[in-house]
Amino acid sequence: MKPNSVGFPHGKNNTTYQTLIHLSTSKILLLITLTLITLTVIPLYFPFHKFPSLSSHRSSASPATISPENHPQDSLISIDDNHHKCDVFSGEWVPNPNAPYYHNTTCWAIHEHQNCQKYGRPDSDYMKWKWKPDECNLPVFNPYQFLEIVRDKALAFVGDSVGRNQMQSLICMLSRVEYPIDVSKTKDENFKRWYYVSYNFTMATYWSPFLVKFSGPTETGIFSLYLDEFDENWTNHLEEFNYLVLNGGHWFSRPSLYYENNEVVGCKFCQKENITDYPMTFGYRRALRTAYKGIMSRKNFKGVTILRTFAPVHFEGGEWNEGGDCIRTKPLRNNEIRLEGSNLEMYLAQMEAFNEAQKKASENGLKFRLMDITQPMLLRPDGHPSKYGHWPNENVTLYNDCVHWCLPGPIDTWSDFLLHMLKMEGRRSAQEKLIQRKRKIAS
Ligand SMILES: *[C@@H]1O[C@H](CO)[C@@H](O)[C@H](O)[C@H]1NC(C)=O
Ligand SMILES: *[C@@H]1O[C@H](CO)[C@@H](O)[C@H](O)[C@H]1NC(C)=O
Ligand SMILES: *[C@@H]1O[C@H](CO)[C@@H](O)[C@H](O)[C@H]1NC(C)=O
Ligand SMILES: *[C@@H]1O[C@H](CO)[C@@H](O)[C@H](O)[C@H]1NC(C)=O
Ligand SMILES: *[C@@H]1O[C@H](CO)[C@@H](O)[C@H](O)[C@H]1NC(C)=O
Repeated sequence: MKPNSVGFPHGKNNTTYQTLIHLSTSKILLLITLTLITLTVIPLYFPFHKFPSLSSHRSSASPATISPENHPQDSLISIDDNHHKCDVFSGEWVPNPNAPYYHNTTCWAIHEHQNCQKYGRPDSDYMKWKWKPDECNLPVFNPYQFLEIVRDKALAFVGDSVGRNQMQSLICMLSRVEYPIDVSKTKDENFKRWYYVSYNFTMATYWSPFLVKFSGPTETGIFSLYLDEFDENWTNHLEEFNYLVLNGGHWFSRPSLYYENNEVVGCKFCQKENITDYPMTFGYRRALRTAYKGIMSRKNFKGVTILRTFAPVHFEGGEWNEGGDCIRTKPLRNNEIRLEGSNLEMYLAQMEAFNEAQKKASENGLKFRLMDITQPMLLRPDGHPSKYGHWPNENVTLYNDCVHWCLPGPIDTWSDFLLHMLKMEGRRSAQEKLIQRKRKIAS
């Protein structure tokens, strides 16, 4: 796989932001989630020494800047107590003069094709924003706090190169505290394993662009997707992990033959007689179901599964191969754009599969969570490499990359979300322990 080969963007193009459709599914789900969370509010339970003042500021307060010099751990942990009843994924981008928190000279983990400053991107304002949820504050990523939470734990990223993009951003965000050592079991760059020595924290990435078993491409560029078969490259290793961050979607735009039960059941862009051509959501929905089944089939996996939702692409003025590009330099506001076209279809398909799976998972005592970055990232057409992911004379397939994200850049915010979610997990499990203890006492 070529490093930059993730996302042939897809679907019918519609780059003028016209069709106005709201994320209603998301909102409903969030309402349910929020209700559940509100019902289980209890004080934080983390192995920290102290909790600093729980801020009751809402919109006005900006989180304190973290600097390595003033890092006494306890003073850095600031938790916005509004979070338990706050949908952190709905909000707007606001200026953050303190960002970015690393540079290409201070972090070696930046992937070549996402090193936008190196390749001459002239503007830098796109790095200077942070996400402001409507109802609360999302603290800027605190690497010390993150590493405390994941001490003695292991986290896996499973999916495509946007997942790798996220992991590299996280390595850079953590680099003020510590760099990991490479403990990969293979030389294959698609299966990296990083180890944080001081924290006994392992972070691994598993390449699985379709999330299910696949082969190909053939000479004519067609993949074979076994939509009902696990990709054992990652499902066989799940037991090693406490957290699993799953992602995917972009690869389903590629020409593929779909197999179920080892028989062809359809395809995408295969142009073969007698084979039904399906939209990319057909394969994506089924692959997600199989991935979730794979997770639930591992009896000893007790970790938290996080679906990182579809990251929108931002080609304007044409498709990826028609001269489409992303040249904006500022975030949009919510009233300036709506999710539409294939971004929307992919989003809805994945929500459907997730909601089904989450129900089953919770019956089996498994935790499935959503990192719902689709709307926040839809507002960031300015965050992609565009033509600054390579030198101008280089011959690359995706010349204008409006799929991946520059580092540093808006994808760094995914670490803010991840940390928030891990904190919420801590609250929930403390609550569960409390309930169990009460039951024991009662019986
Ligand atoms: C970092 O970016 C600068 C431009 O801001 C560039 O000149 C330099 O080569 C880059 N360094 C690395 C190590 O990527
Ligand atoms: C390190 O973490 C692993 C889990 O990832 C755990 O099994 C092991 O006991 C930890 N080692 C130490 C020395 O705490
Ligand atoms: C597992 O990974 C290897 C190495 O990248 C790859 O060749 C193989 O196709 C993968 N297996 C599946 C089932 O996707
Ligand atoms: C399509 O189906 C017909 C009738 O079943 C069969 O004769 C023909 O060989 C098939 N074509 C292909 C390309 O499989
Ligand atoms: C770029 O690469 C493509 C495919 O590898 C090739 O067909 C084309 O001739 C190349 N163009 C240049 C200018 O090298």
